[in-house]
Amino acid sequence: MRPLRVLITAGPTHEPIDRVRYLANRSSGRVGIEIAEAALDAGWEVVLALGPTHLQPRTTPLPDTDPVAASDSHERTSRFHLIRFTTTAELQRCLDEQAPNADILIMAAAVADYRPNAQSANEKSEKMRRAEGGMSLELESTPDLVAGCARNRSELWGGFPRLIVGFALEPATGLLQVAGTKLKRKGIDLIVANPLETMDASDIEATIVGPGGEIASTDGKIGKQAFARWLVRLLQERVAQ
Ligand code: CTP
Repeated sequence: MRPLRVLITAGPTHEPIDRVRYLANRSSGRVGIEIAEAALDAGWEVVLALGPTHLQPRTTPLPDTDPVAASDSHERTSRFHLIRFTTTAELQRCLDEQAPNADILIMAAAVADYRPNAQSANEKSEKMRRAEGGMSLELESTPDLVAGCARNRSELWGGFPRLIVGFALEPATGLLQVAGTKLKRKGIDLIVANPLETMDASDIEATIVGPGGEIASTDGKIGKQAFARWLVRLLQERVAQ
């Protein structure tokens, strides 16, 4: 039996304003990187699409041209591919290429909801100069990437990825209800709900929500590595069902 294939997206997106400035968010990509390591530990084939962050996975990814990479001593490496993206548009291309080959998609990336529209970004493409009187940037909505994957799964990709998992970082009050609504709106299978307070923290307190409601919760706050192992075990059980 071939190993499970997982595509994990992690980290922020940067949306350029001009050649030196961008709109971003505070995601570090840490949770997604830990999920990739836990999935490698479980023997899965892992593609990690990682946005602009200073964090690196501990496992060295497979260099496409390394002839010894597939040997036994590089067994873990041979199951690991790292793809870097910067913008939402680059991440979208990566998903279109990689998601149809994945059994599981874990969308941990903090995708921008808005980006400077073509006019705002292009007109000022070199370097915007300071001027008195302020300025405005016009933003356009980005496409909902994970919702697009859920649509493509049934219309174009022959039912793959079989399991699509999103994340919802929300205020603790009403967290599970908001996560459930998000899950349905996006047409995905599972959503990892965690309270806003876990942002920038080393621990995470997560609840997995499915179409029928709550499925499992961590035992209070746990480290991100422990969370990643817990999630991978849970997903392994679900795809086996
Ligand atoms: N997501 C996505 N594409 C976007 C925005 C978010 O695929 N343009 C994904 C994220 O990777 C995450 C999930 O959707 O897995 C939830 O992200 P979140 O920002 O909480 O949801 P939004 O759709 O932005 O909803 P809202 O602005 O109402 O919070």
